[in-house]
Amino acid sequence: MKIKSQLTKIIEQALLDANIEAKNIVISDATKPEFGDYQFNGVMRLAKILKKNPREISNTVIEHIDTTDMIAKVEVAGPGFINIWLNNHWLSQEANSIIDDKRVGVGYVETQKKIVVDYSGPNMAKQMHVGHLRSSIIGDTLATLFEFLGNEVIRQNHIGDWGTQFGMLIAYLEEQNTDGNSQELKDLEQFYKDAKVRFDQSEEFANKAREYVVKIQSGDEHCLRLWQSFINASLGHCEEVYEKLNVNLTRDDVRAESFYNNQLIKVIETLREKNISTTSNGAECVFLDGDETPIIVQKGDGGFLYATTDLSALTFRDKELNADRICYVVDARQAQHFKQVFTIAKQAGMVREDVALEHIGFGTMMDKGGKPFKTRDGGTVKLVDLLNEAVVRAKKTIKDRDIHSQEELDVVAKAIGIGAVKYADLSISRESNYIFSWDKMLSFEGNTSLYMQYAYARIQSILRKHNAEITGNIIIGDEIEHRLTLMLLKFEDTLTKASIDATPHSITAYLYDVVTLFMKFYELNPILKEGIDEETKMSRLQLATLTGEVIKKGLDILGIDVVAKI
Ligand code: ARG
Repeated sequence: MKIKSQLTKIIEQALLDANIEAKNIVISDATKPEFGDYQFNGVMRLAKILKKNPREISNTVIEHIDTTDMIAKVEVAGPGFINIWLNNHWLSQEANSIIDDKRVGVGYVETQKKIVVDYSGPNMAKQMHVGHLRSSIIGDTLATLFEFLGNEVIRQNHIGDWGTQFGMLIAYLEEQNTDGNSQELKDLEQFYKDAKVRFDQSEEFANKAREYVVKIQSGDEHCLRLWQSFINASLGHCEEVYEKLNVNLTRDDVRAESFYNNQLIKVIETLREKNISTTSNGAECVFLDGDETPIIVQKGDGGFLYATTDLSALTFRDKELNADRICYVVDARQAQHFKQVFTIAKQAGMVREDVALEHIGFGTMMDKGGKPFKTRDGGTVKLVDLLNEAVVRAKKTIKDRDIHSQEELDVVAKAIGIGAVKYADLSISRESNYIFSWDKMLSFEGNTSLYMQYAYARIQSILRKHNAEITGNIIIGDEIEHRLTLMLLKFEDTLTKASIDATPHSITAYLYDVVTLFMKFYELNPILKEGIDEETKMSRLQLATLTGEVIKKGLDILGIDVVAKI
């Protein structure tokens, strides 16, 4: 249900009928219930242009607003705001029309886009860390959201599988005489440390490592095979995390840094041809206006850099993938890098002018003390351990609830534990740093996944208790039902905005509003209590069902499962 665009049309028509010329009408959600459901705040701006009194304009406009169908009432407030109340009958009708709809009233975008989402991007030499956790969770939600709204999504996992460290790693792999599945590779962090110790201790080993770097680069079969088995093992670790996290990334989505290797020299040629880069101290550099230091695209020894690969990837995403929009879900600390790469790519014509290039940055995950998230001994927290701990803690949280068999408990604990980690990450505005707290994320109260999952389970329990067909319609009987119904119908507007701004937290904020209103509704308007007339009971059951469906779909987009009992 696109409510805002329908309201926009009504206001536009009113302005037209009142002979007032206006462009770019914006309808906002009312900030308080006493201001109605929506507000039109554009009169002040019109008044300035037309050099008229804003209240006078507002009064003229409201005379022309159609209040026979969607809108119940309009009022002028303050110096020239127009407050809008929607009609209960209209809301009921709309809600009834989506009760059996699998998409709970959410339509598709008018113009379908091809959207590349670059996310996760772990480095193969090391264990995935919390930064990649955030990228995987946020990126996956955005990809699912874009797709749900009808866009074509191409997931790209830009893994770091190239660089000098791989010489050392495969030399060590060979020396250990182990294959990719071996115990030694189970802990990549440790494997890396051990290899480094060898590298620092033995001149002979160090030389071999250096030799192997060159050999991988020149396509030596033996070294490439070793490298490939190392990457396979490393990717296997990541897939274990994706699986636990419910993240939809497969091998087909991997387009590693190495994929672009033989295109990198073309990047340099293009930059030279267009006079965008110059040679400075032997290195190929781009000097951008306003930047103090140049961006190096090729080192003096011929080696290429992170930026060179990203320029090549941009060319590929434009020319081969034909993307309309490219989203990079990467740590906010890489903002400068993306700004530079986007500028160069557009200047050099590597991407068409109208392709939207967006760095979807996110903040750092902190511990309770406000320090970047680390293990006690200062190492990186292994994600698999973190996710396992989440499930164990979730089990403790619900163990006294005594409604689950052992098997059920496992399924429910997984949904709650993993959901908690994901929701906590998605629900803060993504640019901010975020403080990781088990207690907060596993709470039944507040803006947590458990609060949403619990509300869903509670609704299912009401439906189980009713245990009969639900017929009849939603008939809005009071203020709280009005607000809840309207909130449910705002689902599409919410998703659309979240998709444009790439802000998963606007979906969680919405779900929180839905559940808070539902809890209030349920408190004021009991559903199955003796003595309630049949029509009212059915209406409330329908409203509860629809609420459950919206919660379920919303959590589904966030990649979080619901359960029927908690
Ligand atoms: N591997 C990179 C890192 O860990 C992230 C890759 C992001 N994507 C990209 N196209 N640069 O920082």
